[in-house]
Amino acid sequence: MIQKQLPLISDAVITAFGAYVPERVLTNADLEQMVETNDQWIFQRTGIKERRIAAENEYCSDMIFGAVRDMQRRYRVDLDDIDYILVATTTPDAVFPSMAARVQAEFGIRACGATDVQATCAGFVSALQLANGLVLTGAYRKILVVGAETLSKATDYSDRSTCILFGDGAGVMLVEKGEAGAFLASYNQTDGRNGHHLYRSALAPAINGVSIEQNGKIVQNGREVYRWAVTAVPKGIKALMDKAGMSVNEIDWFVPHSANMRIVESICEKTGIPLDRTLTSMREYGNTSAASIPLALDLALKNNRISTGDLLLLYGFGGGLTEAALLVRWTL
Ligand code: UT7
Repeated sequence: MIQKQLPLISDAVITAFGAYVPERVLTNADLEQMVETNDQWIFQRTGIKERRIAAENEYCSDMIFGAVRDMQRRYRVDLDDIDYILVATTTPDAVFPSMAARVQAEFGIRACGATDVQATCAGFVSALQLANGLVLTGAYRKILVVGAETLSKATDYSDRSTCILFGDGAGVMLVEKGEAGAFLASYNQTDGRNGHHLYRSALAPAINGVSIEQNGKIVQNGREVYRWAVTAVPKGIKALMDKAGMSVNEIDWFVPHSANMRIVESICEKTGIPLDRTLTSMREYGNTSAASIPLALDLALKNNRISTGDLLLLYGFGGGLTEAALLVRWTL
């Protein structure tokens, strides 16, 4: 009997990567001069040593342009035929025009769609999921995916419970149509009823009927968000691995959102993922929300820790409250 050969289903692959952080360093020692805190408290409670802070005249667009230029230096990429730009950020230069439209203009990309994605610390993974979906439809072939933040511009530096956390930076990835698919399985979950525990105000004075501070700065009930993260993420990892029919032992690198090292340690303990298979960026860059996962990848790539073919579990979680996770085969 002649075995009928199934056609190869074209799929999305990662073809280039870049990152950028601003020059200015804000250390724990610097913060000791600004609020009542100390290096020991910050490092023990969060795993953060320092963060990068955008200059006064540097904004989210500058982070993104820097990351795209870094990608151009590291890979032979042609930006001209990009047909969609997705930017994940919670701290754009302006509410509109979108950051994605600004990227189109900066690099003179001729014909493309451009959309910003708002999913806070789950933004970069959400944008990757959307990019994969757009490629799978067959309608788009080459998508620029960005995670970028200037959280320092939205941080209240008189609030010691938040100002010690946040930093700035950006990462970019090119997702293109290819033969062997990189995106193996995805998982999402949202708990909007608890959204008022982590917000940045804009027009309305309340979320879920709860009055909020309206100063446009990031406000967080750290204990509530912490409790949620260490419960929700391990459940999500189990659901994702079940969906993929895989075990956590098969993961080469776990790349969680770098919110807090204690959260990462708790997730690892609950799921059985070894801590030494985990990539983070909070020690060097603090919590950079949508940029934290690409910045962790950047640090790992520079230390030759990721190899072609490695299986990565990317897991974003944060304001919303929202989770987005992906099992990705590294194709670079
Ligand atoms: O990125 C989006 C998702 N976000 C997260 O996942 C963040 C989740 N939350 C956290 O990471 C942690 O809750 C924080 C790092 C924000 C705070 O750590 P914590 O261990 O939960 O501290 P806490 O809020 O329970 O505060 C413990 C104590 C308090 O003092 P009392 O009430 O026990 O006397 C705070 O006033 O630590 C005090 N404190 C500080 N002390 C020194 C709070 N901030 C500071 C500080 N320095 N910077």
